[in-house]
Amino acid sequence: MKIAVCPGSFDPITLGHLDIIERASKLFDKVIVLVSFNRNKNRAVFSTKERMEMIIAVTNNMDNVVVDCYDGLLADYLQLRGAEVIVKGLRAVSDFEYEFQMALANKKLYNGAETVFLTTAGENMFLSSSVVKEIASFGGDISGFVPPEVHDVIKNRLCPPQE
Ligand code: PNS
Repeated sequence: MKIAVCPGSFDPITLGHLDIIERASKLFDKVIVLVSFNRNKNRAVFSTKERMEMIIAVTNNMDNVVVDCYDGLLADYLQLRGAEVIVKGLRAVSDFEYEFQMALANKKLYNGAETVFLTTAGENMFLSSSVVKEIASFGGDISGFVPPEVHDVIKNRLCPPQE
């Protein structure tokens, strides 16, 4: 059984993430969407539990997709779960250098780890969790950027309705 892991901060999940997860679910027997921790990023807006709940809400129609979290090295998690593939979305050349470095480091840490890059759909090229948070915090319309199931949760956290 080919198990792939889609790791990320997912703070919060966007339509770009969802597209990559859906496509990975068609390529591999099982996909684990892993809420993991990027030490280079500031404190998350959403808790790990909230991030996992949002991902579960938008992937529960995909039979071979499960959601998990891990506060350790991705390479260790892969070995723990018998997974061989890391799936990442590549948006632009600017993503490439960092992702290439990660892929090589993960391979060095665990030789069984193969990173597969999926090209982000054209309409999601600009999309990131940071862009979503920025727009939502100014009260902007994020409906084209996040799955409808999680729209209100994100809106209410970043731009709570005024009394
Ligand atoms: O969504 P992000 O923030 O770009 O995802 C980055 C993430 C969380 C996948 C990456 O930071 C990661 O793999 N963190 C786990 C710890 C780890 O293994 N770091 C070293 C990788 S070489």
